[in-house]
Amino acid sequence: MSASYYITTPIYYVNDMPHIGHIYTTVMADVFARYQRLSGANVRFLTGTDEHGQKIDKAARAQGIEPIALADRVVARYHDLWKTLEISHDDFIRTTEARHRRSVAEIIRRITAAGDIYKGEYTGWYDARDENFVPDSQVQDGHDIESGHPVERLSEPSYFFRLSAYQDRLLEWYRQNPGCVRPQTRLNEVMRFVEGGLRDLSISRTSMRWGVPYPDDEDHVVYVWLDALTNYISALGFGAEDARLYDQYWPATLHLVGKDILRFHCVYWPAFLMSAGLPLPEAVFAHGWWLQDEAKMSKSVGNVVRPDYLIAHFGADALRYFLAREMAFGQDASFSDEAFLERFNADLANALGNTASRTLSMTGRYLEGRVPAESADGPIPKAAAQAVQRYRECMDGLEPHRALEAAWQLLAAINGHIQERQPWALAKKEGAAAREALESTLYTSLEGLRITSLLIEPFMPSITEELRAQLGARDLPRNFGQAAEWGGLPAGTPIGVTKALFPRVDIKDFLKEVAMESPRDDSAQAAGKGPESALLDIQEFAKVNLVVGEVKEAERVPKSKKLVRLMVDLGEDEPRQIVAGIAERYEPESLVGRRIVVVANLKPARLMGVESRGMLLAANLDGDPFLLSPDGEVPPGTKVS
Ligand code: MSP
Repeated sequence: MSASYYITTPIYYVNDMPHIGHIYTTVMADVFARYQRLSGANVRFLTGTDEHGQKIDKAARAQGIEPIALADRVVARYHDLWKTLEISHDDFIRTTEARHRRSVAEIIRRITAAGDIYKGEYTGWYDARDENFVPDSQVQDGHDIESGHPVERLSEPSYFFRLSAYQDRLLEWYRQNPGCVRPQTRLNEVMRFVEGGLRDLSISRTSMRWGVPYPDDEDHVVYVWLDALTNYISALGFGAEDARLYDQYWPATLHLVGKDILRFHCVYWPAFLMSAGLPLPEAVFAHGWWLQDEAKMSKSVGNVVRPDYLIAHFGADALRYFLAREMAFGQDASFSDEAFLERFNADLANALGNTASRTLSMTGRYLEGRVPAESADGPIPKAAAQAVQRYRECMDGLEPHRALEAAWQLLAAINGHIQERQPWALAKKEGAAAREALESTLYTSLEGLRITSLLIEPFMPSITEELRAQLGARDLPRNFGQAAEWGGLPAGTPIGVTKALFPRVDIKDFLKEVAMESPRDDSAQAAGKGPESALLDIQEFAKVNLVVGEVKEAERVPKSKKLVRLMVDLGEDEPRQIVAGIAERYEPESLVGRRIVVVANLKPARLMGVESRGMLLAANLDGDPFLLSPDGEVPPGTKVS
């Protein structure tokens, strides 16, 4: 029987729509799941949503809806996004499901039976954003010095978990299993924390209702992290009558998490499991953060990149590739449109796309579109074997960015070989030797590309289909066993229709015309929640010329889903042309006659080739614009201050 491989992502909070940081963890888990399937493992891949807690309750109330309604809305968005990104999860767990509540009750029952829970009174500093009590030593001026979040003093009856009793056993676990927390720097960090001593952990709340009810005590709900962490076993049916999945897949092979939630996964979770008498996960890997302007991308800073416009313009595979290639797994990386576009052109359009289209079009032109006689001549077979070996070592060692490097070395070798042999010159020469050299060059290039297609499959599943169809290799076996060895492409196979895998992008034009269409979500920053340096003084604010305008004309910008071109009367001699990204919420005709608020002294910009001389103000709710209007009959040109 093949080995079981159980991989999980964190479950995502539903108070926010997903951004690049959330997508990253799931894309990487998908890459490993696909790689392991191709390696013959029996894979189970879990993702889901974390729906309880104060944060979600508050966010829902702010929108005037029930928490479950907010959760349903965000969950639908996650489902759509995972489909678009071709995430191949086997299950999606929601912490509001009955199967989850049952498992939480069961783990608490076991921990109670082990004598590790007692009732007490908790008073402490509570960080409502992270759902976390913060140690006194970490609080300064009403803020958590690590996260910068405000904290409040909270006192309430609570059940406690005897975390302090697990210090030695946890240290023993880390020492005996040095691969259990990765990378090594994170293991060191966790060990230092545990060596510093552990305090018992409050695991219930009475101050809040939106949670899993505490078993046999309806005044309490379960602390959100005990609730959330249990998802990894509740999705396998832990505590249910049918626990076959649990028996087959637990303990997890790999919990993939971001470094901000390391402690929960490497201290609390193993301690809960030890107490409940359950096996511990084999490994927790903590990856780094996507940064923007040197700060962690997060809604509260207001510097998040949403994935939609990148997917719309470049496809899900290009985004998957970029995320996996740009970030050294385990470290932080910065996101920028420029870096994305450069990789798109250099790695995808050029190294992958051109190598494939060159090889395939020459096969069409010189060999009647059929794979020539098999050959193992020249440097490519060896380069392919080395690339496969290196790639597998890197994937097994959780260095996916390096695995991609190995695949791209193979592409460079194929390209170099074509350059050196010059098949276009060989095709013009008479004689058997030239013909043989031509066929062998193209066979080894085609076969090299077939092997490349295996290497990129976990990262770019759609483009792999396309490449394999073009190579005539769609129905050939795919695995990292025999199929990764040389000679899989049979002579005589007709190749498919050749077309560009990734059409090159003009970076300057893109940055000028498209990236501005929906690049950043900085609503939180504008709302004054950003870092101190983002605050304006009144003179700076006075430089912004806000005026009331009346829309005279409105029409869609051709080929754009979002943009509307407006002619707006600002009380000047001529109406102004303004382009706004509001077409997904407003029919252009409905805007004519409407009074709005405009920033009148912005530098002109071009959006999709159309000049815009100003900007409309709109409230931004999860990416949906809600236009601002004066509350009464105010003539165009009136100053807003
Ligand atoms: N609900 C908890 C996890 C519970 S798991 C039992 C949670 N949710 S989250 O939605 O805030 O974050 C989910 C994941 O997204 C975390 O792994 C977090 O590290 C990751 N990211 C969120 N922002 C990120 C970046 N800017 N960069 C990379 N990943 C980050 O925490």
